[in-house]
Formats: sequence, structure tokens, C-alpha cells
Amino acid sequence: MCGIVGYIGSRDAAELLLNGLQRLEYRGYDSAGIAVLNGGLTVHKQKGSVGELRETLEKSEAHMQGATIGIGHTRWATHGAPCDSNAHPHMNSDGTIALIHNGIIENYSVLKKDLISKGYEFKSDTDSEVLVHLIDNIWSEKPEIGFEAAVRAALYHVEGAYGLCIISLREPDKVVVARKGSPLVIGIGDGEYFIASDGAPIVEHTKKVVYLSDGEMAIVKRDAYTIKTIENIEQDKHVSEIDFDITEIEKGGFEHFMLKEIFEQPTVLQDVMRGRVRLEEGQVRLGGIEDYLDRLKLSSRVIICACGTSWHAGLIGEYLIEEFARIPVEVDYASEFRYRNPVITKDDVVIVISQSGETADTLAALRLAREKGALVMGICNVVGSTIARETLCGIYTHAGPEIGVASTKAFTAQVTVLYLLALTLSKGRTMSRDELKLYLKELSGVPGKVERILKQNSMILQIAENYKDARNCLYLGRGYNFPVALEGALKLKEISYIHAEGYPAAEMKHGPIALIDEDMPVIFIATRDNSYAKVLSNIEEVRSRKGKVIAIANEGDEEVDRLADHVIYIPAASAPVAPLLSAIPLQLLAYHIATLRGCNVDRPRNLAKSVTVE
Ligand code: G6P
Repeated sequence: MCGIVGYIGSRDAAELLLNGLQRLEYRGYDSAGIAVLNGGLTVHKQKGSVGELRETLEKSEAHMQGATIGIGHTRWATHGAPCDSNAHPHMNSDGTIALIHNGIIENYSVLKKDLISKGYEFKSDTDSEVLVHLIDNIWSEKPEIGFEAAVRAALYHVEGAYGLCIISLREPDKVVVARKGSPLVIGIGDGEYFIASDGAPIVEHTKKVVYLSDGEMAIVKRDAYTIKTIENIEQDKHVSEIDFDITEIEKGGFEHFMLKEIFEQPTVLQDVMRGRVRLEEGQVRLGGIEDYLDRLKLSSRVIICACGTSWHAGLIGEYLIEEFARIPVEVDYASEFRYRNPVITKDDVVIVISQSGETADTLAALRLAREKGALVMGICNVVGSTIARETLCGIYTHAGPEIGVASTKAFTAQVTVLYLLALTLSKGRTMSRDELKLYLKELSGVPGKVERILKQNSMILQIAENYKDARNCLYLGRGYNFPVALEGALKLKEISYIHAEGYPAAEMKHGPIALIDEDMPVIFIATRDNSYAKVLSNIEEVRSRKGKVIAIANEGDEEVDRLADHVIYIPAASAPVAPLLSAIPLQLLAYHIATLRGCNVDRPRNLAKSVTVE
């Protein structure tokens, strides 16, 4: 949700900023802009992608070359439509301060009114522009306080969330940075510093980073950086190491990041298990929760909070933990949980699941649960993310950077982690070592089975050709496959813009059946489990209303072959493992339908990878 980059050093800032923005485009992509200091303060911003911004800059007379300090932004609109004037950076009236912002200024209208009454003119409809004028106003009234103090004073008036990067012609040797609610990282190079929303634009230059915490500011100069609280207390921050390589954030020969990430799943699932699963001994070792294991096992209830795809993984987690560990589980949308005054006790465990580790609603749910005394555990992909840092204990998914906006490998990694967690919670309580061994053995065979499914990619493309013009789709599954149906439908709607709904198969007759006719493709997940026979009856019901049926079935299933228009076969698996397999063809189906429709699958319209605003 908006990408921020900043640079100060001795290299060509404009080029570095454009490259950095391209790496961050998955965070937002409706407009982009950069500002550099090169004797003057030059800003260029426009509607559209970073690629388009680059083209304009290459053609234009905008003199950005030679600048060695600058800031850049790629936007995901919150306040104000995507257009040139609403793009960042925003400037003060005399063009001496440029600011980029990720987040939402909640009291912007009060501040704006006050600034207008003082004669300030606004060029955009954004909440962000208020900040640059507010800083200008404070600094102009008391020029002696300087840049840093002016920003600090301005932030005292601001309610809401921000990640900020600001440069000024009046003090052209520094970048002032501040964070409250929106992530920011400083990369430490050799005589140069990088600032970004996450490690993706930094990793090709340096792996040494400092993560800013909420309520912190950084003053970054060419030869040093200082981190202070907004109250002006200097902080001694730990320097961390980025945990991924540049190759992991490149397409590696695939047409899209999403396809690459789908195909990475066999390796990712192995990585999730690596060092954690000891097959011979029937042991799972989850280092990040070891110290809290007794408390976790004694919890009276588990509440899982997440958003989007992570919420779907959470639903599968509910089934797994209840089945294996016999601990009651509730799954909540983080956005609902935080506002519905939930009952949370000290005996509860709240698990927050988030790929990015930055989702605003999930973070708020975490903080609420912590306040109420629950044990808060995280399942995150991005190492060092805010959620990972604020949870008491947790498990990383180790899926590697996920760039495609629609989540694929992070989902199967989350489900695998939840499977390992459920087994860990069962051990010595509800499950014997031998049983555990059997479950682990089956799990360790999953990457190979996923590999087999991926080999059907071209066949799935052929099926997709039949459905690329569909206007609606229904996804049906039961038991463990119900959350997979939800996830399949989400994938399709996110990237192809076809309206799609997931339902528990048995619920079809309570409403969705009314929609079925010859134009309605219905995707059934009909793998062999205890509701298989009932799902077959549901397929019959759809067929008799002329609906088109695409089924995901187990290899060798002739019964489904007889009933469905198209079948995608997957290897047999027990019900708890099935989602890890049935999700894969649905990802590929959505991917192919979307590409056949000419959609930008990596950057679908209106979406953002990391939703850091409510
Ligand atoms: C956005 C993304 C989804 C993601 C959801 C939750 O909507 O587009 O792909 O599932 O946020 O994100 P998180 O990072 O918390 O898993």
C-alpha cells in the first residue's frame, strides 16, 4: 500500500529511485513520482506505472541527472483519485520541501482548514499534502528550529498513520524520515543510505538494515544516520540482515511473478519443513514458539485473526487444530475482531496470520489481544515485519518474497505451518508419536505431489480457454476443501475481475443454486474424503440445471470424470493434507483465465499487496 524509497550518497539518485520504485510497485501502482535535490528541488510525478514515469523522465528535460539525494513514491490511492496532482511527492508553496507519505492522516480536514485560513493553497485532494504545508508553516514561523524540529513539531499535530520521507532545499544534506503505522527500513551502505518500505529495493545494494519502529524518526545524512523517538530521545537500534537474495525478487524466466511463485511451491513447502520436521523421530521443532509451548497447549481457546488469503489459511488452521489437538478455535476477520468488543481472556491464544506482517487490521487485532492479556502468536512471511516483531512468539513461513499481489506460495506455506503447529499442539496430548509420524510422513510427500500437479499446467491452460469469457463462477467444496473453494474464488476475482464466490457445497441449495444455468461454471473440489459422495450429488444437481462443471478430483476417479465437463486430477491425500494439493490447480486456473483476458495478473487493478491502512 504505497511504496516509499529514498536515497542519499554519491550515486545517481534518480536512477536508483526509479529502480527501487519498480521493485516496490506491488505495493501500489496507480501513480508514481520522484523528487531530487540538485542545486534546486526537482519533482516529477504522474498517473500510471513506474515504467511510464521512467519513459517520461527519459524523454523530458527534467534535470534530475547528477542528483545524489532524493525520494520516490508509488501510490495506491486512498484520499483523492489517481491522477498527476494527487501523485506524490507533494511540495510546499515555494517549492523548497518535498514529501512522500504512506498511510492516512485522519485529522487532515481540520488541519487543512486551518492551513487554508493561513493562506495555504492546496494542489491535490490528498490527506498527505497537508503535512508538507504544516511543516512549512511551522518552519517558516520559526526558521531557527531547523528541518528536523519542524517535522517533529508537525507530527505532534497529526492523527493517523504515516511512513514519511522528506527532503528540503533549505537543508539539502539530509533525508528526514518518520514512522507511525506504516513500515520503513533504512539500508546501510558504504557512504550511502537507502530508505524503503521494505527490503526489496535495498537488497541489491546492501543487506544491512535497521527497521524503524512506530513513533521513531530518522535523520539520514551521507556519512551517518541518527534514530530518535518523536519525543527527541536518541535510540540505539539493532542492525539486522535482510534474509533474501536479489534473485528471489526477479522473475527468473517466468512471464509473471505469480506464475513463478506458483511454481516455487514444491521448494517453498520443503523450506517450511526444513530443520523443523524430524521424520524418523516423529518430531516437529518450531523454535519460535518453543518457550511458550506449555502455555499454548494449555490454552482454553485459540482465536485466529487475519485478512484475505491469510484468513482462508486460518480457516484451514481451525479445522487442523480442532481435529488434531482438540482445542476449540475461532477464526475472525481481523477488521471485525478489532471493533466488535470480543471476549478475550488470559487463557486464550490469539494467532495472527499475515504474509506481509504489516496489514493494518491484523496489527490492530494483535495489539488488542495483547492488551487483554492473551498470548499472541504470529505466523508471518516477512522477517522483521511489524507483526513479527510485536508478537510474543511465532513461526515464520519462509516462503521467500512474494511479489505477485495475489497470494499463492504464501498461502500454502501458511497452511503447512498451521499443520505443523496443530501436530505440535497434539503431541503428548491427543496424538501418539506413531500417529504423528504418519502425519509427518504424508506431509513430507506433499512437495513431490505438488510437482506432479504443476506438470498439468498446459492442460489447465486449455481448460481455462473455455471459461475466459465467463461473467460469474461458483466454487464449491466441503470440509477442508471449503476454505480452498473460498481461496479459489478469491484468486479468480482478484486477477481476472470475474465475479466468483466460494461456498460450502451443501449450502448451494440455500441460495446459489438459483444462479445456475448454462452460463455458470461451477468448480467443485471433489476429492475423496468423508463428504465425497455428497459432493457428487451436488455435481448432479448442477448438471441437471445445465451448469458447467470443472472438478478437482483424485487421480483415477472415473465417477467424477463421467459427471464433469472438465476434470483436473490431483494425487490422493488424506483430508487434512488435501488443501495443499487442491489449491494448486485453482491458482493455475485463475492465472490462465486472467492472462487470457489480458489482465495484469501481478498488479491487478485497485489491489495492493500490503494493506497498511484500515
Ligand atoms: C491484501 C493482499 C492479499 C492478502 C491480504 C492480507 O488484500 O492483496 O493477497 O491476502 O492483503 O495480507 P497479509 O499480508 O496480512 O497476509
